[in-house]
Amino acid sequence: MIDRRQLGMNGPAVGCLGYGAMVLEGYYGAADDRQSIATIRHALDLGLNMIDTADAYGNGHNETLLAQAIAGRRQDAFVATKFGIVFDDAAKGSDLPTGWGFSLKINGRPSYVRKALAASLKRLAVDTIDLWYAHYPDPATPIEETVGAMAEAVRAGQVRYIGLSNVTAAQIRRAHAVHPITAVQFEYSLWRREAETELLPTLRELGIALVGWAPLGSGFLTGSVGSLDKNDFRQNNPRYAGENLAANREHFSPLMSMAMELGVSPAQLSLAWLLHQGRDIFPIPGTRRPERIEENAKASEIRLAPEVLGRIDEIARPGLARGATLV
Ligand SMILES: NC(=O)c1ccc[n+]([C@@H]2O[C@H](COP(=O)([O-])OP(=O)(O)OC[C@H]3O[C@@H](n4cnc5c(N)ncnc54)[C@H](OP(=O)(O)O)[C@@H]3O)[C@@H](O)[C@H]2O)c1
Repeated sequence: MIDRRQLGMNGPAVGCLGYGAMVLEGYYGAADDRQSIATIRHALDLGLNMIDTADAYGNGHNETLLAQAIAGRRQDAFVATKFGIVFDDAAKGSDLPTGWGFSLKINGRPSYVRKALAASLKRLAVDTIDLWYAHYPDPATPIEETVGAMAEAVRAGQVRYIGLSNVTAAQIRRAHAVHPITAVQFEYSLWRREAETELLPTLRELGIALVGWAPLGSGFLTGSVGSLDKNDFRQNNPRYAGENLAANREHFSPLMSMAMELGVSPAQLSLAWLLHQGRDIFPIPGTRRPERIEENAKASEIRLAPEVLGRIDEIARPGLARGATLV
C-alpha cells in the first residue's frame, strides 16, 4: 500500500498517488473495458484510491466503467469526478478557447450543475461523490454561482468535498470564499511547471491540495511514446508536433539518462520528483496497463537526494518545453 497524505485542510487521507481514468476511453490508444476494470481495481489494491474521472470522458462511459470497477468495494475508492464540459450537442454552454486551437463548451450555471450531479450519481451508481470538481470555469457564469450550486450538493449529502480545475489563483480565492475548496486540479509535471509561480503559493496559503493532471506529460516523460496514431488525442497537443517534439525530446533526454543512472524508470523519476515538491501534491497518472500501476506506485518509495533534486531542477527548468498548453 502506498503512503497516504491528507487532502487539503478538510479532506481525508488518500493515497499520495491517485489514478487518472481518462486514458481508458481510447484518447491515447485503444482500451478494452475488461482490462480497464482490472486496471482500476489494481490501483485500488495498491492504495491509489483517488480515482479521477469526469462526466465528459467517453461522454459518460468513463463514469459507468468506474461504477463497475468499484462495485462491491465502494469503501476502497475515493471517487473524484468533474462536470462542466458540455458533451451533449443539444445542450447549451459558453465557448472556451484552448491553447490547442479548439474551443470547449462549458456550462457552470446552477441549473446545469444540478442536472450534471444527478447524471453523474446515476452513472457512478453511488449515493455520494467524494470529490466533485468544476472541470473548467464557465466564462459566462460567475464562479461564486457555480460553487454556490455545488455547495448545495454538499449540504444535501450528495458530495463530500468540492474541487476546481483549470482555474486561476484569483478564481480560487473567490470560490473559496463561498465554500471551502479541498483540491484544485491543474496540469503539473516536469514539463509544465507554471503552477509553481502563483497557483501553488495561493493553494498553500488557503490549505488546498494540488492534484496534478498529466503528471507524465501525457506519456512524453516516460520516454516511451513513439509515433502517434492518427486518432490519438495528443495530435492536438502542440508539444507533440513536428519541430516542437524533436526539440522537447532533445531537451528532456538528460532526464531519461538520469533515470537510468538512478536505476528507476523515467515515469518513476517524474512521479517521485512531483511527490518531493510537497505533501500537498497528488499526481494522478493514467495507464491502461495493470503492470504500470505497479511501476508507478513504486515511485512513492523513491527518495531523491537534494543533489539529485538540484540536478533535475537544472535540466527541467520551468519554461523549457516547447509548444502551447491546453489551459
Ligand atoms: N482536469 C483536467 O482538465 C484534466 C486534463 C487531462 C487529464 N486529466 C486527468 O489526469 C489524468 C492523467 O493525465 P493523462 O492521462 O493525460 O497523462 P499522464 O498520466 O501524464 O500520462 C498517461 C500516459 O502515460 C503512459 N504511462 C503511464 N504510466 C507509464 C509507465 N510507467 N511507463 C510508460 N508509460 C506510462 C500511459 O500509457 P499506457 O496507457 O499505454 O500505459 C498514458 O498514455 C487523466 O487520466 C485525467 O484523469 C485532467
